[in-house]
Amino acid sequence: MGNRQGGKRLKTGAFCLNTGNEKVKHILTLVSGNGSNLQALIDAERQDGLGNGVIAAVVSDKPNAFALERAKNAGIPAFTILPDKNLPKQARRLELSNRILAKALELRIDFIVCAGFLSILSGDIIAVYASRMINIHPSLLPKFGGQGMYGENVHRAVLDAGERESGCTVHFVDVGADTGQIILQRAVPVLSSDTPETLAERIHVQEHAAIVEAVRRMI
Ligand code: GAR
Repeated sequence: MGNRQGGKRLKTGAFCLNTGNEKVKHILTLVSGNGSNLQALIDAERQDGLGNGVIAAVVSDKPNAFALERAKNAGIPAFTILPDKNLPKQARRLELSNRILAKALELRIDFIVCAGFLSILSGDIIAVYASRMINIHPSLLPKFGGQGMYGENVHRAVLDAGERESGCTVHFVDVGADTGQIILQRAVPVLSSDTPETLAERIHVQEHAAIVEAVRRMI
């Protein structure tokens, strides 16, 4: 596969080493679970490209995330960086964030994409990657964001609130939880027959298009 840290994949699937072309932008994708958003990015990179972006590496905060398999199948270097369970919550967040930042700097990462990444980042990584780090969230922010609002919890809260519309948001990451500047949103109707699972499924389809578009725009 070649050195993914210093090159660009060609449309043929081959990987071309950098020859002083500094335009190639290295993307680090952060994941925690299934990784369908990661897969959308991998597929987009291979089909129409992500601008000058190349998914250079994947980091998971969960050891068994299926996203790691997806990265492996695509030949993308994948790392597991686990939170230190012995630390209290804030210190644990900061320590995890600092180790991710160190990895990003080591790999000379230009952009970070939180694609189904469920830990909250804090500390220097926010400033170092300001306007270069985005997150996808499965609701129409500012509704149904913040601590504890992730995955199925979000869809259940949307249904409990009787919302008629939900969707997804891609936003820059700032010091708050889901409070950064919004890049784009895609909406779907909420049906009276919806369960958290069916709503999540409909939103996932929109997420895959949204994350690709947002990464292209950011780059
Ligand atoms: C996605 O729905 C994403 O929006 C959500 O986790 C799911 C991951 O799916 N993220 C959050 O809830 C962040 N607060 P995936 O692993 O299949 O990409």
